[in-house]
Amino acid sequence: MENYHPKVTPWQIDEQDFPHNRDATEKLRFLVRYAILAPSSHNTQPWIFSVDGDEIRVFVDKTRWLKVADPDQRELHMSVGCALENLLIAAEHFGYGHEVNYFPDSDREELVARVKFMPQGKPSPFRGPELFDAIPVRHTNHQFYTSRPISQYYQQRLQDCCVEEDIYLYLTNDPEIKRKVDDLITRADATQFADPAFREELGYWIGQGVFGTPWLLAKLAQLAVSHVNFGKVVAKTDSEVLMSSPVLGLLSSKGNDRKTQVKVGQVFERIYLTAAALGISLQPMSQIVQIAEIRAELAKLIPVADRFPQQPFRLGYAKSETEHTPRRPLKEVLV
Ligand SMILES: Cc1cc2nc3c(=O)[nH]c(=O)nc-3n(C[C@H](O)[C@H](O)[C@H](O)COP(=O)(O)O)c2cc1C
Repeated sequence: MENYHPKVTPWQIDEQDFPHNRDATEKLRFLVRYAILAPSSHNTQPWIFSVDGDEIRVFVDKTRWLKVADPDQRELHMSVGCALENLLIAAEHFGYGHEVNYFPDSDREELVARVKFMPQGKPSPFRGPELFDAIPVRHTNHQFYTSRPISQYYQQRLQDCCVEEDIYLYLTNDPEIKRKVDDLITRADATQFADPAFREELGYWIGQGVFGTPWLLAKLAQLAVSHVNFGKVVAKTDSEVLMSSPVLGLLSSKGNDRKTQVKVGQVFERIYLTAAALGISLQPMSQIVQIAEIRAELAKLIPVADRFPQQPFRLGYAKSETEHTPRRPLKEVLV
């Protein structure tokens, strides 16, 4: 696409451009434009879509897997789940029903879902119109959050995103739990940044410009992150932003198989979008679930036993981020 600006063009999507008078394939390709606006760990965008007749096949792109930060590919599959959820929200908005078949081919583990679309579908009660409207405005907010509390009503709205069986959302403003989570974050940051392989991987993705840093700065940042242990600085910032946040959230699940990971991603994206619709900022804080021992300690903080901690995040009110993160052009993710 000419004049494609990765931080701008994909976000300027207009529902009026839905190709009502074109064939089924063109229409479904339009839905993919919403899918790619989903969040993903390190903005790796590890997804591929294939449109065929009335079906979209959603694949995980394992060349974009964070081998060090995400050794068991859990966040990889959650990220694809986020994109799948955007796809379904957009489909329902444009009047489609859908049937999702998860991991339909046991010989092809990268095929995450085959989604069949039908005209004249009924929208799901948990995919309200505000979620669709939030897709192009949602972003991760890394700023300090103000101490303004989040009302019980809004917290319940976030809880209502959690309709999948065996996936749970825990929200807390307990200062003691916040302090314990803060300790875990400090330890996780120290452990990860002491590992040259972790720094090299993070540096590589920063160098690819995934966070929207201009090219030269991105390359300089790659060099710096790869060679210097910024663990203490990162931990200090993480601690400050965490303690500034009025509410902590943790998504957990009963099991932790691939399908569960994808579904956790779907729930997480609904939470992200609902928060955006309510004017609430959100930042995932994944380091404490990326290290097994620290994740086990986090599990003990949830008041219910036998839950697998999937995604911690902080919530609050903050100034908006000034720009979006980049997205790859559609032609790179559509096969
Ligand atoms: C599974 C998952 C884990 C993430 N972990 C973190 C994290 O630990 N820290 C963070 O600041 N952002 C995290 N993010 C947010 C991504 O960095 C963000 O989605 C990506 O950079 C794209 O930016 P956007 O969300 O503003 O569109 C995570 C996102 C996902 C889906």
